[in-house]
Amino acid sequence: MPSLRDAARGRILFGGDYNPEQWPEEVWEDDVRLMKEAGVNSVTLGVFSWAKIEPRPGAREFGWLDRLMDLMHAHGIGVVLATPTTSPPPWMGARHPETLPRAEDGSIVWYGSRQQFCASSPVYRRYAAALTEDLAARYAEHPALTVWHINNEYCTHCWCDETAVHFRRWLCARYGTLDALNEAWGTAFWSQHYDSWSEILPPRKAQYMKNPTQVLDFKRFTSDALMECFTAERDIVARHTPHIPVTTNFMPLWSGQDAWAWAAEEDIVSVDIYPDPRDPWGGQYNAMLADMTRSQAAGPWMLMEQAAGAVNWRGVNHPKPEGLNRLWSLQSVARGADAVCYFQWRQSRQGSEKFHSGMLGHAGEHGRAFRETRRLGAELAAIGPAVAGTAVAADVAVLHDWDAWWAGAQEGSPSTLLDYTEVVRRWHRALWENGTATEFARPDAGLSRFKAVVVPHLYLLGDAAIDNLVAYVRGGGRLVCGFFTGIADVDDRIRPGGMDVRLRELFGIRTLHEWWPLEADTAVQCDGFRGTVWSEELEAAEDAEVVAAYREGELAGLPAVLRRGGATYVSTLPEPPALRALVGDVVRAAGVRPVLSGLPESVEAVRRGELLFLLHHGREMVTVTVPGAYEDLLTGRVVTDRVALGRYGVAVLRSTAP
Ligand code: GAL
Repeated sequence: MPSLRDAARGRILFGGDYNPEQWPEEVWEDDVRLMKEAGVNSVTLGVFSWAKIEPRPGAREFGWLDRLMDLMHAHGIGVVLATPTTSPPPWMGARHPETLPRAEDGSIVWYGSRQQFCASSPVYRRYAAALTEDLAARYAEHPALTVWHINNEYCTHCWCDETAVHFRRWLCARYGTLDALNEAWGTAFWSQHYDSWSEILPPRKAQYMKNPTQVLDFKRFTSDALMECFTAERDIVARHTPHIPVTTNFMPLWSGQDAWAWAAEEDIVSVDIYPDPRDPWGGQYNAMLADMTRSQAAGPWMLMEQAAGAVNWRGVNHPKPEGLNRLWSLQSVARGADAVCYFQWRQSRQGSEKFHSGMLGHAGEHGRAFRETRRLGAELAAIGPAVAGTAVAADVAVLHDWDAWWAGAQEGSPSTLLDYTEVVRRWHRALWENGTATEFARPDAGLSRFKAVVVPHLYLLGDAAIDNLVAYVRGGGRLVCGFFTGIADVDDRIRPGGMDVRLRELFGIRTLHEWWPLEADTAVQCDGFRGTVWSEELEAAEDAEVVAAYREGELAGLPAVLRRGGATYVSTLPEPPALRALVGDVVRAAGVRPVLSGLPESVEAVRRGELLFLLHHGREMVTVTVPGAYEDLLTGRVVTDRVALGRYGVAVLRSTAP
């Protein structure tokens, strides 16, 4: 199977989305000159070029792309070639309105922006396949081609009639009989019983709360329907070029796509990461998404897009201060990226993204953005041979699952303030602050290689996943588990007792009486810390250890944190310092050591292969103690026992010991 290794060939890929169709051809020469100057070795072509290649149905205008492919090859720049199927031209919507998505209320999502296609539309699929076929045939032998990039951030949702037919087919395959579907969806409730398959619809705009299992299945279906579009195009390009790896770029930790399932269908896992430069925890967020993507890839991954400076889709869009782009890029490399790419190479002058930064900004080659691009390109070239293809080891896994996320995010739940991604982020942050190397895993994955497992919050867990957790602890593993976990089965049916009995036994919970979600910006005092978001009225089993109890309110005196053997249950979300301490205790007890001890608070240490990355997330000068002598691959200098790091400073150290 082809992989990122084939494309990277011992280097870090560096470059970005290149949209030359927005520019006159004389600019292309200038682009190439500056790309060479910046060490760009990879560009993504064609993402939004459908209308340019097929300006009218069936037309093929490949001449401009031929010239670009040749130009890139002449300068030694590899091409990540996109199938342009993310953004159908206006003619498609005008001639085939049934390809346009319908929103929940039945309104049409029109062309004039991008991504206006219904994944279930046979017409869309036919045109997409035909274009993919011709594109693949034309460039199969082209020496510039390094990676296929299918579509772009598959994310559309559609509630149209075509989707309804497809949804029914999907449901039929899942349930077999209508009786089984009625049973799974609990349609005895509110007179929702279905008498015929044809009555079933996508969960459209309704009078009141929708059937939660129908909504859950629709999320599962939508992820699968989009994946069918991906695999159809993947199979076409793979037939032409079995040696070229195929990817599609994910939005990370995005609810629309079960990335575990998708990653298994890709040769390269790639992702688009846009931390907010104003976020004081942006570095941790970047680390978390890198860990998640590396876990999905089970190895090196591709950072397909990030921003050199500002994005243009937040309310207030700040540029990255000098050095932050470099820091986060090298952090991604430390955590397994073998490609550091951007949206986009040259900042657009027109269209909706003209205020979105580029590697080459409006200020041009003398601007800060390009200066930083050039520096990073040179540094990635310097460290590439030592880092590309190497592994990042981790002893701790965080469990994350789309099914649980989807099911938990339902109407009519105990609290609208429970934000799945925020809870995952807080637990990952606790590990990050402890300097613990971390991976992500799905709840039914093999866990025996991990010394500790963290479950931030998995509302829905299937039987296999529950048995997996129980077996992990029985086998000597340490498990720490957050609140409101193991509540529902795969059909979103509440488990008897309100929480699965195997898990209650595992943690030493005799009875789960009630959930007591907390109001916004309030906290409940517990022994030694304050809990936020959630609390639970629990009764401990006799042999359970109450690690901490609630101190105030209705739950005063009842257990907040419970432990039985290697399994710890945390029924609230402790404030960050407490969660950090709690997680630190668990991982230490499991024998997990931080990557490097005694670090200044603002410095992150990551080991990748034989290299030690030191990443300084602060602006004041700090000194890091690292016993021994090392070469800093970024500067070529030898450092002994101590490394000084300035604002957003980074060192990439290789021991000089033989
Ligand atoms: C991504 C997308 C790019 C560009 C970028 C802007 O979601 O794939 O095409 O729009 O966002 O941040």
